[in-house]
Amino acid sequence: MSLADVYVFAGPPGSGKGTQAKLLAPKLNVPHISLGDLLREAVRNASKVGQIAKNYLDAGKLVPDNVAIDVAEEAVKNEECRNGFVIDGFPRTLEQAVLFDKMLDKLKFNLKRVFYIDIPLEEILKRLTGRRSCRTCGAIYHLTFSPPKAEGKCDVCGGELYQRRDDTDEVIRVRYEVYKKQTAPLIDYYTKTGKLAYINGNKDVAEVFKEVNKAIS
Ligand code: AP5
Repeated sequence: MSLADVYVFAGPPGSGKGTQAKLLAPKLNVPHISLGDLLREAVRNASKVGQIAKNYLDAGKLVPDNVAIDVAEEAVKNEECRNGFVIDGFPRTLEQAVLFDKMLDKLKFNLKRVFYIDIPLEEILKRLTGRRSCRTCGAIYHLTFSPPKAEGKCDVCGGELYQRRDDTDEVIRVRYEVYKKQTAPLIDYYTKTGKLAYINGNKDVAEVFKEVNKAIS
Protein backbone atom coordinates (compact mmCIF):
# COMPACT_ATOMS: atom_id res chain seq x y z
CA MET A 1 0.00 0.00 0.00
CA SER A 2 1.42 3.42 -0.90
CA LEU A 3 1.44 6.01 1.86
CA ALA A 4 -0.51 9.28 1.56
CA ASP A 5 1.71 12.30 0.93
CA VAL A 6 2.10 15.25 3.26
CA TYR A 7 3.39 18.72 2.28
CA VAL A 8 4.61 21.26 4.83
CA PHE A 9 4.96 25.04 4.36
CA ALA A 10 7.55 26.63 6.62
CA GLY A 11 9.13 30.07 6.70
CA PRO A 12 9.06 33.38 8.54
CA PRO A 13 5.79 35.16 9.39
CA GLY A 14 4.20 36.69 6.31
CA SER A 15 6.32 34.71 3.85
CA GLY A 16 3.15 33.46 2.15
CA LYS A 17 2.79 30.01 3.74
CA GLY A 18 -0.98 30.30 4.05
CA THR A 19 -1.42 31.84 0.60
CA GLN A 20 0.58 29.08 -1.11
CA ALA A 21 -0.96 26.27 0.96
CA LYS A 22 -4.44 27.47 -0.07
CA LEU A 23 -3.37 27.21 -3.73
CA LEU A 24 -1.66 23.83 -3.46
CA ALA A 25 -4.27 21.93 -1.41
CA PRO A 26 -7.15 22.17 -3.94
CA LYS A 27 -4.74 21.37 -6.75
CA LEU A 28 -3.77 18.12 -4.99
CA ASN A 29 -7.35 17.61 -3.86
CA VAL A 30 -6.39 17.31 -0.20
CA PRO A 31 -7.28 19.46 2.83
CA HIS A 32 -5.23 22.42 4.06
CA ILE A 33 -4.45 22.56 7.77
CA SER A 34 -3.22 25.85 9.27
CA LEU A 35 -2.01 25.55 12.85
CA GLY A 36 -2.36 29.32 13.31
CA ASP A 37 -6.00 29.22 12.11
CA LEU A 38 -6.80 26.30 14.42
CA LEU A 39 -5.28 28.13 17.39
CA ARG A 40 -7.13 31.38 16.57
CA GLU A 41 -10.38 29.41 16.30
CA ALA A 42 -9.69 27.85 19.71
CA VAL A 43 -9.12 31.35 21.15
CA ARG A 44 -12.40 32.60 19.61
CA ASN A 45 -14.25 29.64 21.11
CA ALA A 46 -12.50 30.14 24.46
CA SER A 47 -11.83 26.38 24.56
CA LYS A 48 -9.29 24.94 27.00
CA VAL A 49 -6.59 25.12 24.29
CA GLY A 50 -7.72 28.64 23.37
CA GLN A 51 -7.41 29.85 26.94
CA ILE A 52 -3.81 28.61 27.08
CA ALA A 53 -2.95 29.88 23.58
CA LYS A 54 -4.41 33.41 23.75
CA ASN A 55 -1.56 35.21 25.53
CA TYR A 56 1.08 33.48 23.39
CA LEU A 57 -0.63 34.49 20.15
CA ASP A 58 -1.15 38.08 21.26
CA ALA A 59 2.51 38.36 22.28
CA GLY A 60 3.82 36.71 19.08
CA LYS A 61 5.37 33.82 21.03
CA LEU A 62 4.97 30.12 20.24
CA VAL A 63 2.42 28.15 22.25
CA PRO A 64 4.02 25.29 24.24
CA ASP A 65 5.10 22.34 22.08
CA ASN A 66 2.71 19.88 23.74
CA VAL A 67 -0.26 22.14 22.91
CA ALA A 68 0.81 22.60 19.26
CA ILE A 69 1.46 18.87 18.85
CA ASP A 70 -1.93 17.87 20.31
CA VAL A 71 -3.77 20.34 18.04
CA ALA A 72 -1.86 19.12 14.98
CA GLU A 73 -2.41 15.44 15.79
CA GLU A 74 -6.13 15.91 16.28
CA ALA A 75 -6.34 17.67 12.88
CA VAL A 76 -4.34 15.12 10.89
CA LYS A 77 -6.29 12.21 12.37
CA ASN A 78 -9.40 13.63 10.74
CA GLU A 79 -10.89 11.26 8.16
CA GLU A 80 -10.64 14.04 5.51
CA CYS A 81 -6.84 13.75 5.67
CA ARG A 82 -6.69 10.07 4.80
CA ASN A 83 -5.41 10.80 1.25
CA GLY A 84 -2.81 13.26 2.50
CA PHE A 85 -2.80 16.94 3.43
CA VAL A 86 -1.00 20.26 3.20
CA ILE A 87 -0.04 21.87 6.52
CA ASP A 88 1.34 25.33 7.27
CA GLY A 89 2.80 26.66 10.50
CA PHE A 90 3.67 23.23 11.87
CA PRO A 91 6.21 21.99 12.84
CA ARG A 92 7.91 25.12 14.19
CA THR A 93 10.49 23.78 16.65
CA LEU A 94 12.91 20.87 16.51
CA GLU A 95 10.90 19.05 19.16
CA GLN A 96 7.73 19.45 17.06
CA ALA A 97 9.58 18.22 13.96
CA VAL A 98 10.85 15.06 15.68
CA LEU A 99 7.41 14.27 17.11
CA PHE A 100 5.75 15.08 13.77
CA ASP A 101 7.98 12.47 12.08
CA LYS A 102 6.86 9.91 14.66
CA MET A 103 3.22 10.94 14.27
CA LEU A 104 3.38 10.54 10.47
CA ASP A 105 5.04 7.16 10.83
CA LYS A 106 2.41 5.95 13.26
CA LEU A 107 -0.47 7.21 11.09
CA LYS A 108 1.14 5.86 7.87
CA PHE A 109 1.81 9.13 6.07
CA ASN A 110 4.79 10.01 3.92
CA LEU A 111 6.38 13.44 4.41
CA LYS A 112 6.92 14.34 0.78
CA ARG A 113 8.22 17.92 0.80
CA VAL A 114 8.90 20.80 3.18
CA PHE A 115 8.68 24.12 1.29
CA TYR A 116 10.78 26.69 3.02
CA ILE A 117 9.64 30.12 1.80
CA ASP A 118 12.17 32.84 2.40
CA ILE A 119 11.61 36.63 2.38
CA PRO A 120 13.41 39.57 4.04
CA LEU A 121 12.08 41.42 7.11
CA GLU A 122 11.23 44.67 5.22
CA GLU A 123 8.91 42.70 2.93
CA ILE A 124 7.38 40.85 5.90
CA LEU A 125 6.48 44.17 7.55
CA LYS A 126 4.84 45.45 4.35
CA ARG A 127 2.89 42.25 3.85
CA LEU A 128 1.64 41.77 7.38
CA THR A 129 0.63 45.32 8.18
CA GLY A 130 -1.48 45.29 4.96
CA ARG A 131 -2.97 41.81 5.39
CA ARG A 132 -6.71 41.34 5.82
CA SER A 133 -8.38 37.93 6.36
CA CYS A 134 -11.95 36.77 5.98
CA ARG A 135 -13.66 35.92 9.28
CA THR A 136 -15.91 33.39 7.57
CA CYS A 137 -13.84 31.43 5.02
CA GLY A 138 -10.26 32.43 5.92
CA ALA A 139 -9.39 33.86 2.46
CA ILE A 140 -6.29 36.07 2.62
CA TYR A 141 -6.00 39.57 1.07
CA HIS A 142 -3.54 42.42 1.04
CA LEU A 143 -4.65 46.05 0.82
CA THR A 144 -2.07 46.77 -1.90
CA PHE A 145 -0.88 43.43 -3.37
CA SER A 146 -4.20 41.55 -3.58
CA PRO A 147 -7.04 43.85 -2.51
CA PRO A 148 -10.66 42.65 -2.27
CA LYS A 149 -13.06 43.98 -4.93
CA ALA A 150 -15.21 45.70 -2.30
CA GLU A 151 -13.55 47.28 0.72
CA GLY A 152 -13.84 45.16 3.88
CA LYS A 153 -15.72 42.34 2.11
CA CYS A 154 -14.49 38.90 1.05
CA ASP A 155 -14.65 38.25 -2.74
CA VAL A 156 -15.28 34.54 -2.15
CA CYS A 157 -18.07 34.49 0.44
CA GLY A 158 -18.94 38.12 1.22
CA GLY A 159 -17.68 37.69 4.82
CA GLU A 160 -16.19 40.52 6.88
CA LEU A 161 -12.46 41.17 6.51
CA TYR A 162 -10.41 41.79 9.65
CA GLN A 163 -6.86 42.57 10.66
CA ARG A 164 -5.14 40.04 12.93
CA ARG A 165 -4.27 41.24 16.45
CA ASP A 166 -0.68 40.04 16.03
CA ASP A 167 -0.14 42.00 12.79
CA THR A 168 1.19 45.15 14.49
CA ASP A 169 4.73 46.37 13.78
CA GLU A 170 5.82 45.54 17.35
CA VAL A 171 4.43 41.98 17.47
CA ILE A 172 5.58 41.19 13.90
CA ARG A 173 9.17 41.96 15.02
CA VAL A 174 8.78 39.63 18.03
CA ARG A 175 7.40 36.88 15.75
CA TYR A 176 10.36 37.33 13.41
CA GLU A 177 12.87 36.98 16.28
CA VAL A 178 11.02 33.91 17.58
CA TYR A 179 11.12 32.47 14.08
CA LYS A 180 14.90 32.99 13.74
CA LYS A 181 15.61 31.41 17.12
CA GLN A 182 13.12 28.54 17.27
CA THR A 183 12.03 27.71 13.71
CA ALA A 184 15.02 28.47 11.46
CA PRO A 185 16.93 25.40 12.82
CA LEU A 186 14.36 23.26 10.97
CA ILE A 187 16.02 24.26 7.69
CA ASP A 188 19.06 22.16 8.65
CA TYR A 189 16.90 19.35 10.00
CA TYR A 190 14.93 18.96 6.77
CA THR A 191 17.94 19.58 4.52
CA LYS A 192 19.59 16.56 6.13
CA THR A 193 16.55 14.37 5.43
CA GLY A 194 16.47 15.58 1.79
CA LYS A 195 12.89 16.87 2.14
CA LEU A 196 13.58 20.61 1.99
CA ALA A 197 12.69 22.71 -1.05
CA TYR A 198 14.00 26.27 -0.85
CA ILE A 199 11.53 28.76 -2.34
CA ASN A 200 12.30 32.42 -2.96
CA GLY A 201 9.11 34.05 -1.65
CA ASN A 202 10.07 37.55 -2.72
CA LYS A 203 8.14 37.39 -6.00
CA ASP A 204 4.48 37.72 -6.84
CA VAL A 205 2.08 34.98 -5.70
CA ALA A 206 1.84 33.25 -9.11
CA GLU A 207 5.64 33.17 -9.53
CA VAL A 208 6.09 31.67 -6.08
CA PHE A 209 3.43 29.06 -6.85
CA LYS A 210 5.32 28.11 -10.02
CA GLU A 211 8.40 27.44 -7.88
CA VAL A 212 6.35 25.34 -5.48
CA ASN A 213 5.05 23.23 -8.37
CA LYS A 214 8.53 22.81 -9.79
CA ALA A 215 9.73 21.58 -6.41
CA ILE A 216 7.06 18.86 -6.40
CA SER A 217 7.76 17.41 -9.81
P1 AP5 B 1 0.47 31.74 12.06
O1 AP5 B 1 -0.94 32.10 11.82
O2 AP5 B 1 1.00 30.50 11.46
O3 AP5 B 1 1.36 33.00 11.69
P2 AP5 B 1 2.82 33.15 11.00
O4 AP5 B 1 3.69 31.98 10.97
O5 AP5 B 1 3.38 34.35 11.69
O6 AP5 B 1 2.49 33.32 9.54
P3 AP5 B 1 1.42 34.23 8.94
O7 AP5 B 1 0.08 33.55 8.97
O8 AP5 B 1 1.48 35.59 9.57
O9 AP5 B 1 1.95 34.42 7.46
P4 AP5 B 1 1.96 33.47 6.19
O10 AP5 B 1 3.36 33.04 5.96
O11 AP5 B 1 0.90 32.41 6.27
O12 AP5 B 1 1.61 34.56 5.10
P5 AP5 B 1 0.23 34.82 4.31
O13 AP5 B 1 0.07 33.82 3.24
O14 AP5 B 1 -0.91 35.06 5.25
O15 AP5 B 1 0.73 31.62 13.63
C1 AP5 B 1 0.26 32.63 14.50
C2 AP5 B 1 0.63 32.30 15.93
O16 AP5 B 1 0.08 31.02 16.31
C3 AP5 B 1 2.14 32.17 16.23
O17 AP5 B 1 2.74 33.42 16.46
C4 AP5 B 1 2.09 31.30 17.50
O18 AP5 B 1 1.72 32.04 18.62
C5 AP5 B 1 0.96 30.32 17.19
N1 AP5 B 1 1.42 29.09 16.49
C6 AP5 B 1 1.10 28.72 15.23
N2 AP5 B 1 1.68 27.54 14.92
C7 AP5 B 1 2.41 27.17 16.01
C8 AP5 B 1 3.24 26.06 16.31
N3 AP5 B 1 3.47 25.08 15.42
N4 AP5 B 1 3.83 26.01 17.53
C9 AP5 B 1 3.62 26.97 18.44
N5 AP5 B 1 2.84 28.06 18.23
C10 AP5 B 1 2.23 28.16 17.02
O19 AP5 B 1 0.62 36.20 3.59
C11 AP5 B 1 0.83 37.39 4.35
C12 AP5 B 1 0.33 38.61 3.55
O20 AP5 B 1 1.15 38.77 2.40
C13 AP5 B 1 -1.12 38.50 3.03
O21 AP5 B 1 -1.70 39.76 3.06
C14 AP5 B 1 -0.96 38.01 1.56
O22 AP5 B 1 -2.01 38.47 0.74
C15 AP5 B 1 0.37 38.66 1.19
N6 AP5 B 1 1.17 37.86 0.26
C16 AP5 B 1 1.38 36.51 0.31
N7 AP5 B 1 2.22 36.13 -0.68
C17 AP5 B 1 2.56 37.27 -1.35
C18 AP5 B 1 3.42 37.54 -2.46
N8 AP5 B 1 4.10 36.56 -3.08
N9 AP5 B 1 3.52 38.82 -2.88
C19 AP5 B 1 2.85 39.82 -2.25
N10 AP5 B 1 2.03 39.63 -1.20
C20 AP5 B 1 1.89 38.37 -0.74
